Amino acid sequence: MDGPAGAGKSTVAKRVAQELGLRFLDTGAMYRAVTLAVLERSIHPSDADACAEVARSIELDFDDAGKVLIDGRPGEPDVRSQTVTLNVSAVSAHPSVREAVVARQRAIARRPPGVVAEGRDTTTVVFPEADHKFFLNASPDERARRRALQEGSPDRYEEILGDIQRRDDLDATRAHSPLVQADDAHAIDADSRSVDEVVAAVLAVVRSASRA
Ligand code: DC
Repeated sequence: MDGPAGAGKSTVAKRVAQELGLRFLDTGAMYRAVTLAVLERSIHPSDADACAEVARSIELDFDDAGKVLIDGRPGEPDVRSQTVTLNVSAVSAHPSVREAVVARQRAIARRPPGVVAEGRDTTTVVFPEADHKFFLNASPDERARRRALQEGSPDRYEEILGDIQRRDDLDATRAHSPLVQADDAHAIDADSRSVDEVVAAVLAVVRSASRA
């Protein structure tokens, strides 16, 4: 499942994984984990070689709740900090970083029972042979409104909207693995639907395909 930041992919993918008895794979958390490790080592996010070395050398995995582990230690909440959020687009844009992280994503997905992955390129680059593909979209206004509500800071709406638009732009225009909708992905518009409705729409597609 792919889509822009804040469309609700994590919540939906987690719920779908639970329903289907699969693991939830938060690929964004892996790029956030690499970014955190890069910043902790005082490496500049623009230094592709040094960032890739970090991506190759740290151990990345997930606990049973689907939370990222860095060298066996919980990456939360630090991977969600403002500093990591501001730098993750730069770090994740390096092809050598992506190569290292994608290899780990595929290794995790090979372990039974399989995964529901969410991110920006999971349907196009990481798992082109996925059984089912979804593109979850929502308008920048709606995503900013939800995030401000989630944070309990409605006064930050404008600032959050600015961050979302900047990140959308970076994620969609980068040279490698930009955010695009796969030709064979089911597009779901989250603006007009509740989380329950989106989960139900995804499960309906999966279940009707497995009956076919
Ligand atoms: O979904 P998120 O906000 O946690 O993702 C953090 C960043 O990681 C996002 O700005 C883009 C990058 N990302 C990516 O390049 N490819 C993915 N498959 C997932 C996330």
